Amino acid sequence: MTLDRVLIVSPSAGLGGAERVLLDLVRAQRPNRTGPHRAVLVLEEGPLIDELVELGVEHSCLPLPRSLGAVGESQRASATALGLLRAASSLPSYLLQFRSTVEALAPSVVHTNGMKAHVLAAAAGIRVPVVWHLHDFVGDRRVTRPLLTLASRMPARALANSHAVAEDARASFGRLPIDVAWNGVDLERFRPDLARRRRLGGSTDVVHVGLVATYARWKGHDVFLAAARKALDALGDGVHFVVVGGPVYTTAGSQWCVEELSARVVAERLEDHVTFVPFQRDPVHAFQALDVVVHASTRREPFGRVIVEGMACGAAVVATRGGGVDEIVRPDVDGLLVPPGDARTLADAIVRLVRDEGLRTRLADAGRARASEFSLARFDDEVVACWERALA
Ligand code: GLC
Repeated sequence: MTLDRVLIVSPSAGLGGAERVLLDLVRAQRPNRTGPHRAVLVLEEGPLIDELVELGVEHSCLPLPRSLGAVGESQRASATALGLLRAASSLPSYLLQFRSTVEALAPSVVHTNGMKAHVLAAAAGIRVPVVWHLHDFVGDRRVTRPLLTLASRMPARALANSHAVAEDARASFGRLPIDVAWNGVDLERFRPDLARRRRLGGSTDVVHVGLVATYARWKGHDVFLAAARKALDALGDGVHFVVVGGPVYTTAGSQWCVEELSARVVAERLEDHVTFVPFQRDPVHAFQALDVVVHASTRREPFGRVIVEGMACGAAVVATRGGGVDEIVRPDVDGLLVPPGDARTLADAIVRLVRDEGLRTRLADAGRARASEFSLARFDDEVVACWERALA
């Protein structure tokens, strides 16, 4: 069989990292790049669909039963288990629909882009080779890990977004062959724009330090705001903080809400020092306006796409050590690394960077060079190679 058509199944229609990767994969088929045709099946309504419409990508939507759509692992384990049980009654008829939708689209390979899609494809008994794209650590999932382990006999292979994620998955999935493809970044678009940086705040004397992330609780907004207070105490002024993003996923309990973060800003007396920039459909301008990009995840980051995007836009990066971050950033060469959940050390790093323009420039230049190794073309070639292997 030849690799003619790939169906990418996205459980989420929010625009988080995994969905941005999906958009890269469908964009890569045009213009004049070869490779298989790509169609998308989305399992909820939401902004991802608008992007697919705009790109003119073949797509369909088969919303998950509401009870299943909201199940996630940010709740207590008992709540997750209960959610799964509640969803169980609607599952058999959904699985039949899912299977007939996939079959009607006649793909040569099915590429599942998230945990729920991995399990569904396995449970529905999809007969064409399936590739699981792993964007998260499976070992961190208390409830779905056993489910995924059971389901992992079905896919032909998996593709991990970092070596750390691959290694973690191997511990659960045993024999499943796993390839690694780091995310690619569109380096034509993600590049510095000094004019934009100067416009923001109107003054080049103020260093803009930002966290760009979905509002997932583990992305460390609390740590960022606590570090901002400590850094301000040390610096007095000359720095402004920016929080870019919003709650993009619908999974119960997984996201900060705006009121919670505003309350923290008040508690840290940061009202005049933090700007909230809402979710950006295209985050490139937000990165271009920042001198320093902070990554503050409180758990190990599976890959850390925003770090590469920040580097590509010429920002100096401070990131939380662990997971994919260690594969992207060489400490003190391309960026500064700090331990997870440590507002004090993060504040010290921010203070160093605000005070030392030379250090900022050196890290930004090295970071930009490093980012150029994460091209979209490389990423797409690696994914297509994985699809080919799944078919062989
Ligand atoms: C998920 C991960 C993030 C990664 C992205 C793209 O959002 O949390 O680390 O960059 O997927 O693979």
